[in-house]
Amino acid sequence: MVVKGEMLYEGKAKKVYRTDRQDVYWVEYKDDATAFNGLKRGTIADKGECNNQTSAIFFGLLEEKGIPTHFLELMSDREMLVRALEIIPVEVVARNIAAGSLAKRLGLEEGTELAKPVLEFYYKSDELGDPMINEYHIDAMGWATGQEMAEIKEMAWKVNNILVEFLRSVDLILVDFKLEFGRHQGRVLLGDEISPDTCRFWDAHTREKLDKDRFRRDMGGVEDAYQEVLRRLKSVTGR
Ligand code: TMP
Repeated sequence: MVVKGEMLYEGKAKKVYRTDRQDVYWVEYKDDATAFNGLKRGTIADKGECNNQTSAIFFGLLEEKGIPTHFLELMSDREMLVRALEIIPVEVVARNIAAGSLAKRLGLEEGTELAKPVLEFYYKSDELGDPMINEYHIDAMGWATGQEMAEIKEMAWKVNNILVEFLRSVDLILVDFKLEFGRHQGRVLLGDEISPDTCRFWDAHTREKLDKDRFRRDMGGVEDAYQEVLRRLKSVTGR
């Protein structure tokens, strides 16, 4: 049995606690939602429970397919145990279809299929608003080694392939998503969460948005969208 200890860190969407095991953290998912680097704030009812369970399903699937993740086990509807990571301060965004900041930056119509998927890197810094960076910055600042970046990119592409195929089976299009990685006992593991907060999911038939864009853009139906994604995942995984 693992015992929950003192709170180590409170983020915008999660609280992280120590446990009586040095290499294990206890994560509690909150209903709080922010957008535009914290400028827009609100709550999404039952988001914590949805994202905890959604993330657990994705991490379980990825582990089965050979991606090492921090996920250990669910502790309650909104809590999970994870391996303690030393977070690498680089957010990795993978994109299959132009949306959000890419559509804006390059003047593309949202929904434009990219000829090839792309990866982007952002420096994880609330004060700076997560500025976009490239691998030269990561190398120069010492945020990750060349070897770590090679592993991170390989994992990100694999995660994209695995999730695109899996989500297609539940009639969801994976438009884009954000991943975070960290070090644990000398290895790089996939961390953070994978949920409608950190991915764009569109219904395959109607292209209806089933993710945090409904909150960011005041579209309504936010709670139902999160529940719908989880319902579809549960319908095929039996988890
Ligand atoms: P973007 O189009 O706003 O750059 O977002 C790309 C993807 O990254 C999208 O699936 C949402 C996710 N994301 C986060 O998880 N956290 C963030 O802070 C931002 C800006 C985006």
